[in-house]
Amino acid sequence: MREGELIVSKTDLKGRITYGNRAFNHYSGFTERELLGKQHNIVRHPDMPRAVFQLLWDRLKAGQEVFAFVKNIAKSGSFYWVFANVTPSYDAQGKLLGYFSVRRKPNPAAIAVIQPLYRKMLQVEKDARTQDAIAASTQLMLDALAAQNVSYDDFVRNLQN
Ligand SMILES: Cc1cc2nc3c(=O)[nH]c(=O)nc-3n(C[C@H](O)[C@H](O)[C@H](O)COP(=O)(O)O)c2cc1C
Repeated sequence: MREGELIVSKTDLKGRITYGNRAFNHYSGFTERELLGKQHNIVRHPDMPRAVFQLLWDRLKAGQEVFAFVKNIAKSGSFYWVFANVTPSYDAQGKLLGYFSVRRKPNPAAIAVIQPLYRKMLQVEKDARTQDAIAASTQLMLDALAAQNVSYDDFVRNLQN
């Protein structure tokens, strides 16, 4: 991504895409027609550990925002890294409408830290029994954070800034 550029998308409560800005179309390589109504995992890259999306959905379901470094896949098969902020979105009465994501260019120094961590998490997910995979991978991440005495939120914020 270029400096200052934002990739924006919105989903309904089930994670189906309801809006994407032009940058989203551009980087994903899909047209608006191909994206609207599709599950947001249409841009999911196989290198991404499932535990990251578990964290994302846990946060969203709890009404909280989440920041995450995400490697996405384009229609062509190429990839692009983003630093994403995903939030629940509410109407004026406070009713949950869906979810909203704004992504910016990640700090390259952050990707150098995140990539090996995600690689280890993915390996753990592959090695574990299916039903234990996400828990094992989450534990690996929590252990890495504990070793640095930092919360997940501070970890990603510090990496980006
Ligand atoms: C607003 C919003 C934005 C999302 N953006 C992405 C994204 O850019 N890339 C991605 O792989 N998953 C994204 N997700 C998560 C996907 O919905 C999905 O959980 C994830 O791709 C993992 O796929 P799976 O749930 O089929 O395992 C987003 C979810 C929401 C609600």
